[in-house]
Amino acid sequence: MDQAEGLRNVIKARDAKIAAEPRIIAITSGKGGVGKSNTAVNLAIAFRKMDKRVIIFDADLGLANVEVMFGTVPKYSLKDYVYGEMELSEIITKGPMDIGFISGGSGMLSLNNLNDDQRQGLVYGLSNLSGMCDVMLIDTGAGISDSVLDFVLAAPEVLLVTTPEPSSITDAYSLVKAVFSKRKTTGEKQTMSIVANKVMSEAEGNAVYTKLSSVVERFLGGHIDYMGYIPQDPLLEDAVRAQKIVSLASPTSRSARAYFEIASKLMGSESMPGDTKSGLFRFFSSFITSGKSAPSL
Ligand SMILES: Nc1ncnc2c1ncn2[C@@H]1O[C@H](COP(=O)(O)OP(=O)(O)OP(=O)(O)O)[C@@H](O)[C@H]1O
Ligand SMILES: [Mg+2]
Repeated sequence: MDQAEGLRNVIKARDAKIAAEPRIIAITSGKGGVGKSNTAVNLAIAFRKMDKRVIIFDADLGLANVEVMFGTVPKYSLKDYVYGEMELSEIITKGPMDIGFISGGSGMLSLNNLNDDQRQGLVYGLSNLSGMCDVMLIDTGAGISDSVLDFVLAAPEVLLVTTPEPSSITDAYSLVKAVFSKRKTTGEKQTMSIVANKVMSEAEGNAVYTKLSSVVERFLGGHIDYMGYIPQDPLLEDAVRAQKIVSLASPTSRSARAYFEIASKLMGSESMPGDTKSGLFRFFSSFITSGKSAPSL
């Protein structure tokens, strides 16, 4: 092996390692009920159609969002891994199209009470999921409570869902403000993009983004991106009512096509630059050990 070939192998190995790091995308909103869980589940379906392995982490405490749409009741949650005898792989429920699903469970609330060993075990366990997925979608709760903000701050990529309703836009702005002010102290690097949901037209989606991004620029001196829009779609409502997922029940519906477009855009965009540590390790250690020093690799 000559020197050039050696170098090529090193680069190949590095690229393979980077490619193996899953994308970690938090889906959040200022106001509740604006379409986060539908976004998470339908993006998951779209990613599966692209042959990506997906795990949804349902961090919306107490509200059984994703499981209702999947029509499956997860037997276990993270709590069973941390406090019980379960292996992490055993607490992953399989949904449609083999989408993995982890319930944060109400036990997540008490993560602050973990001792250092439990904390470290959890971070390592969760970061070992790296080999099991290409994308991890995190369905956060709504609003600016600490438990939501911790997830949002830790994620390299954030999708902020908002509808054209003034209260939804105002609450989205409050969330951006809270994230930006915390970011200043933690120095987190991330991309934050708007998904305009329940819009009547492309123009209305653009208007939602322009409204929000202009106040963010003017008052917070920051920038948010635009990932696209999902139309108000009666077929989506029908699907939800029937406990189905619109992308499976009506794959050619306007909303299903819009989700697919957003998923394609996400896949086409650069993920946040990785560092030498696992993305999932960094992600989980930064919120599970918040306030404590992260265990070193
Ligand atoms: N594009 C859409 N077109 C029509 N209706 C929609 C659309 N997106 C969401 N909805 C409606 O809004 C409801 C709430 O959506 P979803 O459960 O995804 O919101 P959420 O943000 O996860 O809510 P929560 O904050 O309670 O977790 C759905 O049940 C559906 O009826
Ligand atoms: Mg939800």
